[in-house]
Amino acid sequence: MSPIYRYATAFCPVLITAGCLILSHRWRHRRRREGIAAAIVAKILDIKATQPNNCMAQAFEQSYYDSLPKDKRKRLLACCSSGIANPESCMGCYAMKPEDYDDFYPFFIKALSQYHKIDFTDKKHGVSNWSLAGVEGIPESGILDLSDFDLPVVSMRVRAGRNLNKYPLPGAMKKRDRVDMEKDMRNVFDELIANPAYGGKYVSITPGHECFIDRAEYKEYVDAHIIFKDMSTDPFLVSAGIAGDWPHGRGCYVSEDKEVIIWLGEEDHLRIICMKRGTVLNEVFDRLKTVVDAVERIIDGGCAISGNFGVVTSCPTNSGTAMRASLHMPIPNLTAGGSDAKANEIGRLLGLSVRGVDGEHTPIGHTGIVDISPSARFCISEAEIMAALYKGVRLLKKEEDERARDGPEGSPEALEVGVHTVVASSVGMGLAMVSITAAGVMVGKWTFATALFGCFESKFAAK
Ligand code: ARG
Repeated sequence: MSPIYRYATAFCPVLITAGCLILSHRWRHRRRREGIAAAIVAKILDIKATQPNNCMAQAFEQSYYDSLPKDKRKRLLACCSSGIANPESCMGCYAMKPEDYDDFYPFFIKALSQYHKIDFTDKKHGVSNWSLAGVEGIPESGILDLSDFDLPVVSMRVRAGRNLNKYPLPGAMKKRDRVDMEKDMRNVFDELIANPAYGGKYVSITPGHECFIDRAEYKEYVDAHIIFKDMSTDPFLVSAGIAGDWPHGRGCYVSEDKEVIIWLGEEDHLRIICMKRGTVLNEVFDRLKTVVDAVERIIDGGCAISGNFGVVTSCPTNSGTAMRASLHMPIPNLTAGGSDAKANEIGRLLGLSVRGVDGEHTPIGHTGIVDISPSARFCISEAEIMAALYKGVRLLKKEEDERARDGPEGSPEALEVGVHTVVASSVGMGLAMVSITAAGVMVGKWTFATALFGCFESKFAAK
């Protein structure tokens, strides 16, 4: 017997046993994973039955999920994680890769239709367009100057989210990706810093980074609203994986005049923010476009765009233009008594969302200054958003001036009170007149009776 044959027969049972063990381990592992996925799907369907506002759960169809190959099922569930962990979410999902929007079109189109209240059967988000030429309802010059309707100098702000094609979206990034992206973006920041129109500096909270700022300095930046808050305390961002590896790969560029800020590593790879105190909206809008173009030019592969949904953002609420244009507007008369009800009601009619000046989910304070922005980000162009802000503010200013001129009497509530008062006083006057008439009649009757009686009396007396 040859030694090879002897070795082979001796090791054969060992190899077969090892093979069987590996296969059974894999099989059990797969079964366990399938069990977990089925439990997650059951949880989504449960949320679907109980949370009508959770767009993710409402858009989730078991039949669509079942039709997907295994790897895509896993990817779709990853997009749904924040809405599963937070059933009260309004959106409930985040994209994890730039291509998720188009790869899971039937799911995202449903979620977006519900959130944006748009019927997409004959609508699509068009290509990006920053040109104000020919946009309806704005001055022919294209200059959106708020002083045209006597608005004082206000704080104007426009921001755009962007995600680089090179990397997965923040929810699926590895620590390495986050750190590499920060390195790549240094090329953009360095170019801006070298340009006297921007200047400024980059600060990082990545441990060991050459531009590292410590905890105390970071807090100063947060308090000054320059950098974003600690993401690891946000339940939506944590459950979506977007807050992962905090604070690695996080930082922010600030221009010399502090009017251009670029957040790195928050909900989107980049949030580019341009702000200024002034009245000409074009100043912030044009600057934003220049910075977005610089990113596109300097970074390999540029920024992610979906054929169906426009600019790719982590959160579908921002997709389309990913742009939010706002300003802080004093409307003390429409917010009299610290109530935002009237401002919200009018804002809704004008397509504006009205919120507190301290950001998302902040209350409207007693200062009478509110943050106004066009609600639409989708199926609208960048230029149209700016025009919508300009036109919306003009109408809101008119409402505010009317309320100021007419005082509380001019308001619908006052009108209602007025109507009640008139009705009440008319009823009162009516009642008073009836009483007077009745009394008069009674007095009259009494006088008449007395006279008659007197007459009889005198007649009898005469008799
Ligand atoms: N993920 C949250 C939800 O689904 C917030 C959505 C909008 N806000 C945002 N920062 N993207 O309710």
